[in-house]
Amino acid sequence: MIKFKNVSKFFDSQTVLRNINFYIDRGEMAFVTGPSGAGKSTLLKLIYLDEWPDEGEITVGDFHLTSLKLSRVPLLRRSIGAVFQDFKLINNLTIFDNVALSLRVRGINEKDIKTPAHEALKKVHLRHKAEDYPQMLSGGEQQRVAIARAIVAEPMLILADEPTGNLDPNTATGISRLFREINIQGTTIIIATHNRDLFKGSGKKVFQLDAGHLIGEEVG
Ligand SMILES: Nc1ncnc2c1ncn2[C@@H]1O[C@H](COP(=O)(O)OP(=O)(O)OP(=O)(O)O)[C@@H](O)[C@H]1O
Ligand SMILES: [Mg+2]
Repeated sequence: MIKFKNVSKFFDSQTVLRNINFYIDRGEMAFVTGPSGAGKSTLLKLIYLDEWPDEGEITVGDFHLTSLKLSRVPLLRRSIGAVFQDFKLINNLTIFDNVALSLRVRGINEKDIKTPAHEALKKVHLRHKAEDYPQMLSGGEQQRVAIARAIVAEPMLILADEPTGNLDPNTATGISRLFREINIQGTTIIIATHNRDLFKGSGKKVFQLDAGHLIGEEVG
């Protein structure tokens, strides 16, 4: 499903990822961990083509990213639900419309949007905030909107960058459970986090990054 072969990424003279190799199967749930600045967000961004690799090959499902035509990038992105570390909510849209946008860009009929958008908000316990705007919400609430937006269209792959970074331990546990439930239904999920509680005892693959190097793989 996702394959990195000798992938490197440089920013100016800095090597941010060096010679990364790994494989994640369809339906797997895997974690990427490591200290701040290790390259976790950059690794996820490469899968979403928010950043392009400088060396190596990346395969995501049927997409060969290195040779992907620019015109096919939206197609790749529509098959992914992404929770960005900085959320990327649209401030002049309501919470409902932020989530609904995820369905609208996928060409879903307007009549088929309301129910799943409200369901997704219910899953992150924010149904009552549907008509608010992002700036009226706390950081943790905004993070949960970002999660609702990522899951609403039931993509084949979910990328979540520190999805519980702004949440209290109980809420984080709830979100962690939500991801596991979605994974059990067959969605491939990759979570970048330094919160070991998210993968401890999970039995899932955990990739350890350190200063741009993949230094190990353990079972959580
Ligand atoms: N657009 C960019 N331009 C220049 N350098 C960048 C850019 N994006 C990331 N970097 C650098 O790449 C390195 C890895 O950043 P990245 O955000 O991937 O780390 P991270 O593991 O996600 O860290 P954190 O745990 O703090 O989120 C950092 O040194 C960062 O400064
Ligand atoms: Mg990061």
